[in-house]
Amino acid sequence: MKELLMLPKDSFLNKTYIVTGGATGLGKSMTEALLLLGANVVIASRKEDKLIKACDELSSKTNSSSISFAICDVRKYDEIERLILTSIERHGSIDGVINSAAGNFITPTEMLSPNGFDTIVDIVLRGSYNMSLALGKYWISKKIKGNILNIVTTYAESGSGFVVPSATAKAGVVALTKSLASEWGKYGIRTNAVAPGPFPTDGAWDRLMPKEVRSLYSVEDRIPLKRVGKHEELANLATYLLSDYSAYVTGAVFTIDGGEYNFGAGEFNFLNSLSIDMWQQIEKTIRTNTKSS
Ligand code: HXC
Ligand code: NAP
Repeated sequence: MKELLMLPKDSFLNKTYIVTGGATGLGKSMTEALLLLGANVVIASRKEDKLIKACDELSSKTNSSSISFAICDVRKYDEIERLILTSIERHGSIDGVINSAAGNFITPTEMLSPNGFDTIVDIVLRGSYNMSLALGKYWISKKIKGNILNIVTTYAESGSGFVVPSATAKAGVVALTKSLASEWGKYGIRTNAVAPGPFPTDGAWDRLMPKEVRSLYSVEDRIPLKRVGKHEELANLATYLLSDYSAYVTGAVFTIDGGEYNFGAGEFNFLNSLSIDMWQQIEKTIRTNTKSS
């Protein structure tokens, strides 16, 4: 990833970040970028084996000893408080957080149990506000200009069937992002969000694109740029938003989806696949129609 990063080397020297969900998928890729740019990173999630594996892998890949882990269930406020204390003990302070932890699976809503709904909303929304609240209290009391980056998704805006708890929770996270930007701007605390379209990860693909679903459609066909996202593309956006290069950006939600969201919304975008021959025929028909109208 090193040669693909856009920020100058050492952009995050002496800075410390917490990345929830940092042991896997996109959280792991964003952690790699932060390490390569000189940061200390504490990755946090529930499963110790994954955390240990990610720390080993990323420290050897980035040649950095600045990664460590803490076991933390983001649904529990006291565990978040412990994570923050541990991170401060290790590094002296905390400059920012990436809330990447999430839970999700596709299902018809009427097949969900109340606990199924709660589980997703608690990880995604409660997890994000637990972290924001605990870090905000710390930053405000210490006069630290902290930085929160929430990972949402494009259907936080549109809503989506079959992932209703996730859509509900991510929409809440967008509201959290914008609200805190307004309220805590006076303390120099910035809050932004990134809304990715499809970026292949085991966690997302196993739960959102099982083989039965994958055989029904092509992800790439729904994307104007005709491909899924690359992890370094998201990592570049995320590190920009955590850096001082984006010092005047707060309360923003950045979509990074190859154009998928707008393509899905535009009334006539389905015509994209028509051939020139068909367009010539269509033009003739329209001209004939309009002459007689
Ligand atoms: C219906 C289900 C279910 C399923 C679990 N449940 N899977 N219901 N269909 N496929 C129900 C269970 O029966 C239970 O309810 C409740 O959900 C909690 O399940 P547990 O297994 O006890 O919970 P837990 O061990 O905490 O696991 C949480 C999890 C799991 C979300 C279910 O998948 C997980 O750990 N996920 C973490 C990683 C993840 O989800 N990554 C994907 C992020 S992708 P009952 O009533 O039986 O007790 C993403 C992308 C968005 O967000 C955008 C893409 C474009
Ligand atoms: P992932 O690898 O499954 O990441 C989810 C992470 O969340 C895991 O590391 C998991 O670790 C952690 N987690 C789950 N429940 C937790 C809890 N209660 N407490 C602490 N950590 C918890 O999936 P991903 O695709 O990289 O997703 C990362 C983020 O990007 C998510 O916010 C997701 O919604 C968002 N996103 C992904 C895509 C995509 O296409 N991949 C698109 C849009 C948005 P443990 O299980 O060990 O706790």
